[in-house]
Amino acid sequence: MKYIFFFAVIFPLFVFSQDIPVIPKPNKVELKSGFLNFKNGLSIKTYGNDNRLTPIARYFANCLFGSKQWKVPGTTPVAKNIILRILPSQSDSLTDESYSLRVFVDSIIIQSHTAKGLFYGCQTATQLFVNSVLSYEIPCMEITDTPQFGYRGMLLDVSRHFFSKEVVKQYIDIMAQLKMNVFHWHLTDDQGWRIEIKKYPRLTEVGAWRTEKYGSKYGGFYTQDDIKEIVAYAAERFITIIPEIELPGHSSAAIAAYPFLSCNPNLPKNVPTAWGIKTDIYCPSDSTFQFLKNVLDEVCVLFPSNLIHMGGDEAPKYAWMHSEQVQALIKKEGLKNEEELQHFFLKKIEDYLALKGKRCIGWGEIVKGGLSNSVIVMSWLDKSAGVKALAHGNEVIMTPRWYCYFDYPQYRREKKAVWWMLYLELSRVYKFNLYTKSITPESRKLILGGQASVWTEYIADEKQLHHQIMPRLTAMAEALWSKNRNYKDFKKRLDNSATLK
Ligand code: ACM
Repeated sequence: MKYIFFFAVIFPLFVFSQDIPVIPKPNKVELKSGFLNFKNGLSIKTYGNDNRLTPIARYFANCLFGSKQWKVPGTTPVAKNIILRILPSQSDSLTDESYSLRVFVDSIIIQSHTAKGLFYGCQTATQLFVNSVLSYEIPCMEITDTPQFGYRGMLLDVSRHFFSKEVVKQYIDIMAQLKMNVFHWHLTDDQGWRIEIKKYPRLTEVGAWRTEKYGSKYGGFYTQDDIKEIVAYAAERFITIIPEIELPGHSSAAIAAYPFLSCNPNLPKNVPTAWGIKTDIYCPSDSTFQFLKNVLDEVCVLFPSNLIHMGGDEAPKYAWMHSEQVQALIKKEGLKNEEELQHFFLKKIEDYLALKGKRCIGWGEIVKGGLSNSVIVMSWLDKSAGVKALAHGNEVIMTPRWYCYFDYPQYRREKKAVWWMLYLELSRVYKFNLYTKSITPESRKLILGGQASVWTEYIADEKQLHHQIMPRLTAMAEALWSKNRNYKDFKKRLDNSATLK
């Protein structure tokens, strides 16, 4: 009898607790006795008349019943109810992303103080159901879940290779399943300008197209209508899109369209086809600043995000050092060198964006010339720029390349695009630790979160893109959401997942 009790009750609970089939792993799970059996159907109900409930319930129903994998619509009177509820007020210990999910023998209650938290509860429930479809049984349990980090992002570079809006939506869907909440859209770079700006049509007429080796044109761009559509699509999934408009470097495509942006406007210009760091960068002139302000006016209307990424990486100062006009500006402003001039450049943009209620993010290099207080530093070479920024009291996002650059090959034996690329295996992504020993507990609070960065120099098509992103994004999502991580446990959940491989 003792043994029967163990195998019938304790053992399944034990197995399930090792294996709650959800990624990212919820932070608190208490298994209870009993099971909910959903063989006879499921039905989604909303509690109360909060009008935020309906779109979430619809999305959830589509995840559950619209899925090709299985179908259990709640049409029979014995269907089990899943009740969605938004609670009136928030307690201090919860964030706006927290939710609870309780599985009883005859129902499931998912609730949160916010629509976003409820949406995440529904994502957890979707995975619980879809991954339990063989048994049609879910153990009774209580999940209370809050993410470890508030910024859980993925960057997609659409400049080096362009990806259609359908592909962008596909990754927004995957991010939503994984409770990731920021899509960092790298829209401008040397090899292509990808966002329609009405005031400057040549940015997309000229800057979005490059001439390949045998004379063919490569390129593409998103119209403002495309962008509005994608921003709304992401918002429905509680994902903020942060656009990146690179400056002062990585700006050859814009310069090819409008040579007055360069310190050497009379030299030949083109949208480069070769990768690498380019020396022709924006010239810090009044006309460049006016151009950027006009561009940002349109960008800010398109993107409701209060954060805008302004680049700041890999900007060689050669052109500035050899420009009389730039040297005169350095003198006039009492700046020490070109790095300080880069800070001056970014500060002008920051101040302009601040008038519109927006804050800037910049790549790690911006710590070199001085930091203003409100800028957020995105540390990419490693964590050191982030550590410096923290010491200065700035907020930081970590995307150190040895853990977060998904352009790197996944496997040891995989062909590398270039010799210096390391392998970034799934297990390594999973071990991503956003802290270092030198970061004090006080400074840790300034680390907003982390991000997978998908640079596309060597990712030319959708198949390759998917290979680079999946399944590593699942490991990143868990590294950013879950406090207690165990790779073996994660790998088992991933291998058994019906939707996330
Ligand atoms: C970067 O990878 N240059 C940000």
